[in-house]
Amino acid sequence: MSGKNLQVVLANRPAGWVKESDFRLVEGPIPTPREGQVLVKNRFLSLDPYMRGRMNDARSYAAKVELGEVMTGETVGEIVQSRHPQFKAGDIVAGRVGWQLYALSDGKDLRKVDPSLEPLSLHLGTVGMPGVTAWVGLLDIGQPKPGETVVVAAASGAVGSVVGQLAKIKGARVVGVAGGKAKCDYVVNELGFDHCIDHRTSDLAKALADATPKGIDVYFENVGGPLLDAVLVRCNPFARIPLCGMVSQYNATDDRYGVKNLMMAVGMRIKLQGFIVSDHLERWPVALKELASLVREGKLKYRETVTAGLENAPRAFIGLLKGENFGKQIVKLA
Ligand SMILES: NC(=O)c1ccc[n+]([C@@H]2O[C@H](COP(=O)([O-])OP(=O)(O)OC[C@H]3O[C@@H](n4cnc5c(N)ncnc54)[C@H](OP(=O)(O)O)[C@@H]3O)[C@@H](O)[C@H]2O)c1
Repeated sequence: MSGKNLQVVLANRPAGWVKESDFRLVEGPIPTPREGQVLVKNRFLSLDPYMRGRMNDARSYAAKVELGEVMTGETVGEIVQSRHPQFKAGDIVAGRVGWQLYALSDGKDLRKVDPSLEPLSLHLGTVGMPGVTAWVGLLDIGQPKPGETVVVAAASGAVGSVVGQLAKIKGARVVGVAGGKAKCDYVVNELGFDHCIDHRTSDLAKALADATPKGIDVYFENVGGPLLDAVLVRCNPFARIPLCGMVSQYNATDDRYGVKNLMMAVGMRIKLQGFIVSDHLERWPVALKELASLVREGKLKYRETVTAGLENAPRAFIGLLKGENFGKQIVKLA
């Protein structure tokens, strides 16, 4: 195959905030598949907050990226060469093959996706891992009932935007929390949430109390920090808190936020449950089918921030951790 491969590898383990110099762009030949392998030409790369954790040498649910190794990440791409019985050239696949233009795979990590669902980047967002995360966390753990109040953090983002819309479909009253007026306006006016709070407001506890006059039944946790404390004192008896992520803490070192109001979980019998979407593989097919149908019917809206070029992925990733993305952060590769 003519041309060159480009890869982004981990150059340094960051202490605190990640920097562009923690990544290195590497040029090399396009690899050739062996028997049992395919060559994928990636079209879109997904950037996700969890990747920050993979840069650390710390105990986690998943293996760290080694220094000099290609950064981990999901892509959507086309199979351009196949020596694997279950794939043929031309198949469109999604899978975790990393921050690179071309990748070899043994197929275990790949799933064929419906090429008629466009843009193909949807398979990395609302109809991909973040969408399934929202679906599993809200429906299996949060279990909202009609008339209940659901609060969603990082409400305009890849996961939060799906959580809030699914909660509305289930008949809940939905309050989003997002950074800035533009994101809050989008969440209410485009996504149909009932209310949205700007987390940069000077009195978050009061804003949350005003927005949740009947208390909180489900809180979908994406950010951590002071918002969780403000939520805990508003929770109704038997509230559910799916702990999906804590992005505000991913770059923290000794300034990590300590939750103060956890005692509320006892008196209010609150269920806090951490979860990782890859532990729920049996739920993926039904979730993906439902999410795709909702998108096709126009009942599930989405927004993307698309950065062009693999060389710009590190900058876009740092921006994602700072809230500069508006909707799902994607990198267009081809
Ligand atoms: N458990 C799982 O299996 C699983 C799977 C996927 C994702 N996740 C987690 O889900 C969360 C959302 O992921 P996503 O892909 O949907 O990302 P995203 O919401 O599209 O992007 C991250 C957002 O986090 C918000 N944020 C960043 N720093 C913040 C801070 N200090 N305080 C409050 N908000 C802050 C920003 O939104 P604002 O501008 O609105 O502040 C930013 O846009 C993350 O915590 C991620 O790790 C977990």
